[in-house]
Amino acid sequence: MLAPAMKILVLHGPNLNMFGRREPSIYGTTTFDEINERIERLAVELGAEVEIYQSNHEGALLDKLQARIDDCDGCVINAGALTHTSVALADCLKAMPFPCIEVHMSNVSKRESFRHHSYLTPVVEGVIAGLGWRGYLLALRFLVESASDRDSTRS
Ligand code: DQA
Repeated sequence: MLAPAMKILVLHGPNLNMFGRREPSIYGTTTFDEINERIERLAVELGAEVEIYQSNHEGALLDKLQARIDDCDGCVINAGALTHTSVALADCLKAMPFPCIEVHMSNVSKRESFRHHSYLTPVVEGVIAGLGWRGYLLALRFLVESASDRDSTRS
């Protein structure tokens, strides 16, 4: 029998919908829609189901995560500036029973010092930063491939 498709949630935080026109020297010129199309294309290739959600509102991101608590196998999250400010988002991610990967387009460690601290890093499985839009694809691939590693060691 075919294994059910993995369900992956991709969350984008505030201002990330402006990728493509926002500070292109830092974030590149690939647009938000193009990034999402690439994520969706890879999901099809990997046989995974992906839901992509963006909000400029902290609470909306928490609501989305809470709504998917029992219906998700992994999350890729670029929380934007909330990374550096949100205890609420960290608490919410910590409560999720599935692995989460923190992604940043830019290498936050080589930018302003206020970007060096992440409330999310201690509660996620891993972090990908500085690899541009490809970071999302690497995170998605990691979640799908590592889940199938876990399944094959169980059988
Ligand atoms: C970002 C880095 C954050 O510091 C910033 O606030 C963002 C984008 C990134 O993808 O590099 O909005 O998360």
